[in-house]
Amino acid sequence: MAVLVTGGAGYIGNHTCVELLNEGYDVIVIDNLSNSSEKSLKRVEEITGKKLTFYKADLLDREAVENIFRNEKIDSVIHFAGLKAVGESVSRPLEYYYNNITGTLVLCDIMRKYGVTDLVFSSSATVYGNPKTVPIKEDFPLSVTNPYGRTKLMIEEILRDLYVSDNTWNIVLLRYFNPVGAHKSGRIGEDPRGIPNNLVPYITQVAVGKLDFLGVFGNDYDTPDGTGVRDYIHVVDLAKGHLKALEKLKESKGVLTYNLGTGKGYSVMEMLKSFEKVCQKPIKYKIMPRRPGDIATCYADPTKAREELGWVAEKGLPEMCEDSWRWQKNNPNGYEE
Ligand code: NAD
Ligand code: UD1
Repeated sequence: MAVLVTGGAGYIGNHTCVELLNEGYDVIVIDNLSNSSEKSLKRVEEITGKKLTFYKADLLDREAVENIFRNEKIDSVIHFAGLKAVGESVSRPLEYYYNNITGTLVLCDIMRKYGVTDLVFSSSATVYGNPKTVPIKEDFPLSVTNPYGRTKLMIEEILRDLYVSDNTWNIVLLRYFNPVGAHKSGRIGEDPRGIPNNLVPYITQVAVGKLDFLGVFGNDYDTPDGTGVRDYIHVVDLAKGHLKALEKLKESKGVLTYNLGTGKGYSVMEMLKSFEKVCQKPIKYKIMPRRPGDIATCYADPTKAREELGWVAEKGLPEMCEDSWRWQKNNPNGYEE
């Protein structure tokens, strides 16, 4: 079984490649390295002791994508490639729509041409907007507040239309909650460019001394300690969810949607305290104003993934923090030497 992994050099793609190779899949990666390093793929090979095939190419380059389908015998596709920074998407909407949506259109068109109709797509909990209640179920109303989120929702809708037009497609939409952590080896992990936007890489960069303090974005939310609550999920658990989704594609037709989260919410202060324990040092922080667009509480109801995919998140908060910290400590500058 050969799987094409778009965006496989990125954070979640990398960890998924490890799980795929470990399970005996052949892995072909396409990535333009716009937000990643080829070194991450070398490390995937080092961790697994197996080879993958890498094409440095852009999904927007139709000829390059077609070339891959011509050269390789591809059974299914896991589609991670996309731009993902919410703030940047507000200032550069055209780039986000063009890259994420057109990239997906090109990919699906070529998949159709070559008769490859099994697809797993990386969606996000962002498509639930500000939910009225938690935990969030897959059938909750969808709404988005920024161009990044809108690309995810639009792509979900495009893929549903595609299935309606041609029932041979099998599509799984995975809505990730907040991926954190890293592979146990400490060799691959999240390597944000510049100052991190997300909580966990920000905390670990403060802990390693690259940043002075964590700005806590608001302590007056309607949550137990006033800080934002999220469903943090270990990236290796998330990666394993993709293998379950691939298995599911083989047995059922249609467009299936699953939340990938743990079902538990932790506040910013709980995350900070948990990291302090793991790093064995205090982590400086300052309370700041709320970040525009943030919501108080977001966590998944992961029941559907458990019942239909046989998937549950197994790794708890201490392991998420230990693994994030090991990666950061061993690679203070990410993949840069
Ligand atoms: P990432 O930036 O680390 O990985 C994405 C990869 O796609 C990068 O390696 C980048 O170089 C590549 N890429 C982007 N545009 C491309 C193009 N046009 N052609 C070829 N390659 C291209 O991000 P990630 O955290 O691994 O996220 C993977 C997917 O999951 C994304 O679609 C993201 O929106 C989604 N997602 C991520 C999170 C998160 O918090 N990390 C949460 C929900 C959903
Ligand atoms: C962000 C994205 C969301 C995406 C999700 C998963 C935004 C506005 N939203 O959401 O679209 O689906 O990541 O990748 O970027 N926090 C701080 N200080 C920081 C950073 C974060 O206090 O320096 C707080 C936030 O206010 C929030 C929590 O930490 O309460 C988590 O933040 P973050 O990691 O950015 O994830 P989300 O806000 O859930």
